[in-house]
Amino acid sequence: MKSKYQKIKGTFDILPPETEVWQHIESTVHSVCQQFSFQEIRTPAMESVDLFKRNIGDETDVSKEMFVWEDQSGKEISLKPEMTAPVVRAYIESGFFRKYPLCKLYYIDSFFRREKPQKGRQRQFNQFGVEAFGTKNSEQDAEIILIAKQILKKLDINNTNLMINNIGDSNTRSKYESKLKTYFNDHKNSLSELSKIRLEKNPMRILDSKEKEDQTIIENAPLIRDLLSKEEKEHFNAVLKHLKGLGIDYNENPHLVRGLDYYNGTTFEITTQSEGSQNALCGGGRYDSLVQKMGGPETPAVGFAAGIERIILEAKQELGENHIDIYISCNDEKYISKGFNIIYDLIENGYKIFFDTNKKNIKNQIKDAVKSNAKFMIAINETITVKNLLSKKEKNVSEGEILAFLKNQ
Ligand code: HAM
Repeated sequence: MKSKYQKIKGTFDILPPETEVWQHIESTVHSVCQQFSFQEIRTPAMESVDLFKRNIGDETDVSKEMFVWEDQSGKEISLKPEMTAPVVRAYIESGFFRKYPLCKLYYIDSFFRREKPQKGRQRQFNQFGVEAFGTKNSEQDAEIILIAKQILKKLDINNTNLMINNIGDSNTRSKYESKLKTYFNDHKNSLSELSKIRLEKNPMRILDSKEKEDQTIIENAPLIRDLLSKEEKEHFNAVLKHLKGLGIDYNENPHLVRGLDYYNGTTFEITTQSEGSQNALCGGGRYDSLVQKMGGPETPAVGFAAGIERIILEAKQELGENHIDIYISCNDEKYISKGFNIIYDLIENGYKIFFDTNKKNIKNQIKDAVKSNAKFMIAINETITVKNLLSKKEKNVSEGEILAFLKNQ
């Protein structure tokens, strides 16, 4: 039978048993972030369009791919395509910059980008991420990267590549941009069509190009590292030194520019070594001027976000058997209040139960219970029968004896 309605293109239902994998990832993120004393933040699904356009950049792909509409009062609203701008908004609006001079936040949320759907690229997708406000120090960059690596490690994803770069501040970048423009202009005829367009608007994005014909030109392009100030070089070297000390392998990638305008200084990505162009699991970096640009005090910041769907593709984690402790049969209405009392006692004592509210006949219930891998079955009638489905031992017990019987098995 075909449903009358289908999901919107680029969106997915997350169905059981896969939801168990999601729960596992989410609980790993909560536990690792909390070990580092990062606190969870949740923000609304929609924000004003301006928040993103002005702060992640009007000309960025992310900005152009937003789901935007006008509300009844004519205000332009967008589903959030990313979390850094909303977190900064909330950080300023809530006055957290006063309350927490060093403010460490994390999130797990859904985001929306009107991209061409393909494997690992959806229109609604999920990220977890962290943002730390209040220090320029290189230790903060290293802690952020350590958290990303630690979460991936706990999820058994070890076959990754950490790429790191320093893209300098806006001064350094505008010098670099004009140098790049000259260089790419000299090779304009050999560039891909997309890169020719980028050359006018944002030549640094050409470094990101996946087009074949651009690759040799990119390889020989001038490097930003040659234009970094002494301070920027020192910061970069300090971050690398911390990573070495932590035993975290990295590759310096002088062409790593990120697709959002707010970055400066350290930028990084963690990619998988699997085939395919959607191999970026995680991306982040510093954005030291964003808080001030959005109306807050001068506050350096650094963070990352990771795509959960891409992590799941990578994890290919075996689904655990969904073990039930006790299968409950209570088919006779006369005994239902006794049945519910027993169920309540069992869950209060930590057991996981499955109550067959369908009230199939007892023969089929026994078959079901065995199939479900439950350890016990309790049939509630005038009598209460507890059956150990492994040893096949069974016993009639009183209500007060159930817990003791289960414990002794
Ligand atoms: P981003 O690189 O746009 O950065 O996204 C981070 C991660 O989200 C990507 O590496 C990818 O795994 C996942 N992702 C992005 N778009 C999609 C999509 N359409 N479908 C599936 N997964 C996707 C940011 O969002 C920044 N806010 C990260 C950040 C936080 N920088 C500093 N703090």
